[in-house]
Amino acid sequence: MTSTLTNAVVLVTGAGGGLGHEFVTQSLRRGAAKVYATARTPRSYDDPRIVPLVLDVTDESSVRAAAAAAQDVTVVINNAGISAPSPIATGDSTTLRAIFETNFFGAVAVAQAFAPVLARNGGGALLNVHSVLSWIGLAGAYSASKAAFWSATNSLRVELAAQGTQVLGLHFGYTDTAMTKDVTAPKNDPADIVGLALDGLEAGELEVLGDEMTVDVKSKLSSPLADLYPGLAA
Ligand SMILES: NC(=O)c1ccc[n+]([C@@H]2O[C@H](COP(=O)([O-])OP(=O)(O)OC[C@H]3O[C@@H](n4cnc5c(N)ncnc54)[C@H](OP(=O)(O)O)[C@@H]3O)[C@@H](O)[C@H]2O)c1
Repeated sequence: MTSTLTNAVVLVTGAGGGLGHEFVTQSLRRGAAKVYATARTPRSYDDPRIVPLVLDVTDESSVRAAAAAAQDVTVVINNAGISAPSPIATGDSTTLRAIFETNFFGAVAVAQAFAPVLARNGGGALLNVHSVLSWIGLAGAYSASKAAFWSATNSLRVELAAQGTQVLGLHFGYTDTAMTKDVTAPKNDPADIVGLALDGLEAGELEVLGDEMTVDVKSKLSSPLADLYPGLAA
């Protein structure tokens, strides 16, 4: 299963964000015929190939309406996400649930609504935006939500194989967007992460790791836990 972006019809959730904007512009640069730039409050665009569309991933009626309006989609980029400080041990349940509503239930709702659309259009592709934090629990509820979403992606990949849908999971660390405006650690360029993701999509990959830190973290998942969490070493 490979999904060239030439003449593709792409839908991006969270298109107004740092990575979302890159997914829109780079998809067009690679030959997409149309991009639905979805957001809770979509902006207007000068380029007629970009179609603004309302889509709040936490509102099932909004997700259903977007899927009904965008019946020609061949590539879905499940990118919308939120982050907020929420330790598992002490975080409040309202924040914990809000993070899961967007990063897990919202992303799954988008996959469920668009899977039949992709099937009708020949299979296409679903690109799910996870994080290195799916694999290392340093960000409390956010890590947990991205781990759950990663697991859902693994199930979706198996379940949608019969309809010919390529399901690609994207993992990466700190990247320079509004989400990390208060982070002082080194950050990836969103253009680089999206470029790698779309290279992987067009090459038929099932997973893309966007940076060396993510490669390192994934490589340690089968090691003793202290390799991943050195502070826990005896
Ligand atoms: N930046 C990083 O370091 C990093 C690292 C790993 C993974 N990620 C993941 O990358 C994805 C994109 O994040 P980003 O870095 O580009 O952050 P961003 O600039 O803050 O963009 C996030 C986007 O998600 C949208 N969004 C939030 N809740 C939504 C909802 N209920 N329905 C629809 N859209 C919603 C936001 O829209 P509004 O404008 O309406 O708020 C915003 O456009 C996220 O899934 C994030 O978890 C980011």
